Amino acid sequence: MAQRCYIVGNWKMNGMRSDLSEARAIDRASSRLPKVEVALAPPSTLILAMRDAVNHIGVGAQNCHAADKGAHTGDVSANMLREAGADFVIVGHSERRADHGETNEDVKAKAESAQAIDMGVILCVGESEAERDSGEAEEIVARQLAASLPDSCARLSVAYEPIWAIGTGRVPSVQDVGTMHKWLRAVLVDRYGEDGREVRILYGGSVKGENAAELLAAPEVGGALVGGASLSADGFVPIIVAAS
Ligand code: G3H
Repeated sequence: MAQRCYIVGNWKMNGMRSDLSEARAIDRASSRLPKVEVALAPPSTLILAMRDAVNHIGVGAQNCHAADKGAHTGDVSANMLREAGADFVIVGHSERRADHGETNEDVKAKAESAQAIDMGVILCVGESEAERDSGEAEEIVARQLAASLPDSCARLSVAYEPIWAIGTGRVPSVQDVGTMHKWLRAVLVDRYGEDGREVRILYGGSVKGENAAELLAAPEVGGALVGGASLSADGFVPIIVAAS
């Protein structure tokens, strides 16, 4: 069965209670666009309040610790996030890999900790600008994905986010997006067999209302992971409309 297009907003370290009005407006618009699966990942501090504020969209977390509990000051486990109302968790975002030194092994362990309690996972990969310029971006990102994948593809999505496109207003060509997504599909099928064809591969990096339709039409693109444009209904709803 064909899966719905999956449009996910990652609020990163943005969002106070006063911003829940934007989530409510996104929720209302999404209720009129049932062909699209929509979700928001607010900072952990807002998960519970956002869960209570919306009815039609998913709510997720931006990171989790791989362990269930323990002496890890400042960290939060997947089951704690689920109890707060998160349906899914983003793992391996390039900002986590860069700011916190997360390795492919860490990302795999985090994904598996979430899957163990039946949470969805969005696993991020992507190349730096130097890696793109080397002409070997596909090989590099395919290796990164293969090393980060959990043992199971249950409730797994992958997000391809070229680091140089995040928050910059620059986007790869639709052809380059399609080429990369085909490589990533091959990695998923190699790892999971036919089940690997069911894993949605999202594109992320400067997605806006104006470029969403074109990017979402590229081969093997099953949705988008959106940063800046997801912070307001004015920015995010046009992307959802483009996906519908
Ligand atoms: O997780 C989202 C991405 O990092 C994309 O962010 O849409 O602000 O470029 P952006």
